[in-house]
Amino acid sequence: MIIKPDGTVRRHVSAIVLKTLLDQGLRVKAFKEMSVPRSLAEKHYAVHKERPFFQWLVDFLTSAPVIVMILEGEDAIEKIRNALGKTFVQDADPTSLRGKYGIWKGVNIAHASDAPETAKNEIALWTSEGGLEVSSDAQALASQYIEHYIKSDIDMTMKIRKTVVDAIESNNTSEGTIDILTELLGKDSNGINQSDIRTLAKVIHDFILEEISNKNK
Ligand code: CMP
Repeated sequence: MIIKPDGTVRRHVSAIVLKTLLDQGLRVKAFKEMSVPRSLAEKHYAVHKERPFFQWLVDFLTSAPVIVMILEGEDAIEKIRNALGKTFVQDADPTSLRGKYGIWKGVNIAHASDAPETAKNEIALWTSEGGLEVSSDAQALASQYIEHYIKSDIDMTMKIRKTVVDAIESNNTSEGTIDILTELLGKDSNGINQSDIRTLAKVIHDFILEEISNKNK
């Protein structure tokens, strides 16, 4: 699974995602925070390459660091997908992770493999091209991450979501939204470069512009 940039730059949110999964008894076999090369993101999302949102999706995954993991356990895929909720934030159950912490539509905090075969292929890809490694330290690294960031108690989700939804609803294409999103996304972003946060804010702004344009077609 991957905690996407909108989850990873918000440390408290990523700690909650991790804790929720570990509390279900899943074991962390590999854990890595990394910036994603474009070629890797393109391969990861190759099944979507003909879709109109493909380039945006690659921009999104490469905008700021992600946390990539291999998780193991009985019914792991089902457990993870149930905990995350439906793909689009507005469709996700409000008690699910995406329902609580997702931003809007496909800006949805995490990706999880949807079947054992997909997991096998994604693990092979991220191992060979992303430097992801199974390690006996992985579980401890994830636990330390949770311990470090669960306390922060900063959660800007509702403000970020409102900024995005209001901009779409009011056809607000102003670049001032990028500044607002950069500030909100940066409030709990220990260790993440300011320029990566701004790149993520720009990608979310591109999503807003796309939604406005689709709405008015
Ligand atoms: P994920 O589970 O990573 O799988 C593919 C991703 O594509 C999905 O989550 C969303 O982030 C994104 N996505 C799917 N459909 C759309 C869409 N219509 N517009 C924008 N992004 C999408």
